[in-house]
Amino acid sequence: MAEVDGLFDPYTAHENLVSEVFGEVTEMWTESVLPTHINRALLELIATLPRVDFKSRLTESIDNSLELSTLSQQEIEKLLAHYVGHELPYRSDAVIDVQNWIADTFQDQLRSPVTFVNSRAWSNVGSEDFGGPFHWHTDGFKPGHLKVMIYPGGLSESKGGLEIGDTLITNRPPGAAVMFRNSDVNHRGIPATGGGRRLAVEITLQRSLFPQLQRWQSHFNGRHLKSLQLLYVTAGNP
Ligand SMILES: [Fe+2]
Repeated sequence: MAEVDGLFDPYTAHENLVSEVFGEVTEMWTESVLPTHINRALLELIATLPRVDFKSRLTESIDNSLELSTLSQQEIEKLLAHYVGHELPYRSDAVIDVQNWIADTFQDQLRSPVTFVNSRAWSNVGSEDFGGPFHWHTDGFKPGHLKVMIYPGGLSESKGGLEIGDTLITNRPPGAAVMFRNSDVNHRGIPATGGGRRLAVEITLQRSLFPQLQRWQSHFNGRHLKSLQLLYVTAGNP
């Protein structure tokens, strides 16, 4: 049934259709490693990006494509204190290379084509009581979405990790990438220790009938597309 709380939900209907045509995603998570040259280009790109001004960005829409998260004042204060955030430019070569690599590498798990929704990067100072993504949670996105986390500096005891269900993912090389069903499986980040920063790149994608690279501006506080029409309006038109 394509219903949420008794109401017709287009995202559920769309994901049901994609599953009928291509099959369901059966695995909760899977991992790989970004090739060195793409990882290097991604790091070089991030080094050139301005810091996101969280205070204005948390509530303002950029081009009205993405639905935004609702954050409490306490969460905003924690972001300001612990995060450096960046929005990845969707037209940059490095981001396009990452998207193509994801669609290719995880094709067997995804089963369908995908549309890339949002691309951001953030580093954080480890802190015991930071909360947020470091507490067990699911993301609550609409059906059909997955996230890919990329750790350009790798993961280790000092650089932190990612826990998904019963599995702790750490001790991974630079470029480690994890794709997971962010709204179906409990997960939490493991912060870096010793005051170090852990850089994470987060790509959000949605399964769709046709493939499409990201065609709207990234938003640090973006969740998923406001309208399913955006999956198809520009698909196939470079
Ligand atoms: Fe999450």
